Amino acid sequence: MPRTRIKDILASDKTDYTVTIKGWVRSFRNNQFIALNDGSCLNNLQAVITLDTDEALVRNINPGASLSITGTVVASLGKGQKVELKTESIELLGACDPEKYPLQLKNKPSLEYLREIAHLRFRTNTFGAVFRVRHTLAYAIHKFYNDRGFVYLHTPIVTGSDAEGAGEMFRVTTLPFDNPPRNEDNSIDYKEDFFGKSTNLTVSGQLEAELGAMAFGEVYTFGPTFRAENSNTARHLAEFWMIEPEVAFNDINDNMDLAEDFIRYIIGYAMEHNREDLDFLATRLADEDKQKPMNERSEMGLVEKLDVVLNNKFERITYTEAIDILLQSPHYKKKKFQYDVSWGIDLQSEHERYLVEKHFKKPVIVTGYPKDIKAFYMRQNDDGKTVAAMDILAPGIGEIVGGSQREERLEKLLQRMEEMHIPAHEMEWYLDTRRFGTVPHAGFGLGFERIVQFVTGMGNIRDVIPFPRTPKNAEF
Ligand code: 4AD
Ligand code: MG
Repeated sequence: MPRTRIKDILASDKTDYTVTIKGWVRSFRNNQFIALNDGSCLNNLQAVITLDTDEALVRNINPGASLSITGTVVASLGKGQKVELKTESIELLGACDPEKYPLQLKNKPSLEYLREIAHLRFRTNTFGAVFRVRHTLAYAIHKFYNDRGFVYLHTPIVTGSDAEGAGEMFRVTTLPFDNPPRNEDNSIDYKEDFFGKSTNLTVSGQLEAELGAMAFGEVYTFGPTFRAENSNTARHLAEFWMIEPEVAFNDINDNMDLAEDFIRYIIGYAMEHNREDLDFLATRLADEDKQKPMNERSEMGLVEKLDVVLNNKFERITYTEAIDILLQSPHYKKKKFQYDVSWGIDLQSEHERYLVEKHFKKPVIVTGYPKDIKAFYMRQNDDGKTVAAMDILAPGIGEIVGGSQREERLEKLLQRMEEMHIPAHEMEWYLDTRRFGTVPHAGFGLGFERIVQFVTGMGNIRDVIPFPRTPKNAEF
């Protein structure tokens, strides 16, 4: 008999039909009630076994064991569920020793402990919910762009260009470590390497996406990116996923509108399709909050917070305004910021979080950053000091989006590259977009894990990616 997903059984009031369910035991009470979970949804289906069930089989119904159960869906007599399964036959697919099953050894395993057993943490309610939401967000991202006629462009993972300057890169090479071929000046001879040049893992697909936008009009990328920054924070990964739309003929205001519509759309989509998971995560977060001192508790529940994002425009301010707000803040006057504030600084995460969490209490888009702290490709504003950059800051996370209108004027771009010591001769392929029918264009990058953190309320970015890669950690 084909398998029926527990989600479909629980979603309907229908009773008195026969199904086969397959999944993993969550609990077994009174030698009679099996709670089976198959990952299709948060909830388990209760299967009630008959008294004549084979004793050897009953001994094997332990948490973690996998079972195939055939029975009749009936109205449940017990509380907590509308329907349950009256078991007719059970097959043990895979036994699980409860004395050794890691998820059974600790009463309430911590998120940190679960990270060490990332191969099993999918089977917990929390991670089940997180990764179902992550899936939905990924799907909604493709749907958003597809519905708007964007072309999904696959940009390379191995790249010979490191001009983005977004962070330290991971080198890709097949040269021997102990005795690499050398040039006369003793530098390593990358002509002998696999690609005949020095190559790295990409930090962003933007530059290649720009080439696509110059032909398709609107494109987006959605792929893994890599940064070898040694930042051991709750918001940084060495391998993370990024969505980068790039649109010809858009200016910085169009870019902000697109980013706002996009973020609102995918959050709304998850609220509509993963409500049960989000309600569970909201309760989890509220419980976690109760453990914290009063002044550190969130003012809003998770679902409430997402509703605020759905129903309010993001605040839009310039970098100069942001600096003024910080300088005028009681926080600054009481010297509570660790890093000093003055025009020209790169906003630290404490500054970003003050703006969104204390001052505006909603997402904020900051534009017009000083050119010296931003990438070479950002369009120079007429003031000669700032560029048409935009960062979107979110409560609880800080920066979730970084983007800009691009410098489409060849002369200006070349001059900026020279000032920033970026070798133009390695970037001819990029500069050609400005030579052959250049147009104003703009784009941005949304950090996928950061938005998953925002939507699920998970405090640590390691808990929203199936297999996190961070400094000194590449398990599995
Ligand atoms: O601000 P970033 O560096 O922007 C770019 O890479 C541009 N090329 C994007 C574009 O204009 N097409 O990175 C974009 C976003 C950040 O806002 C942040 O959300 C995320 O990527 N991000 C990280 N997420 C997790 N771990 C890291 N180490 C991250 N670094 C950046
Ligand atoms: Mg950035």
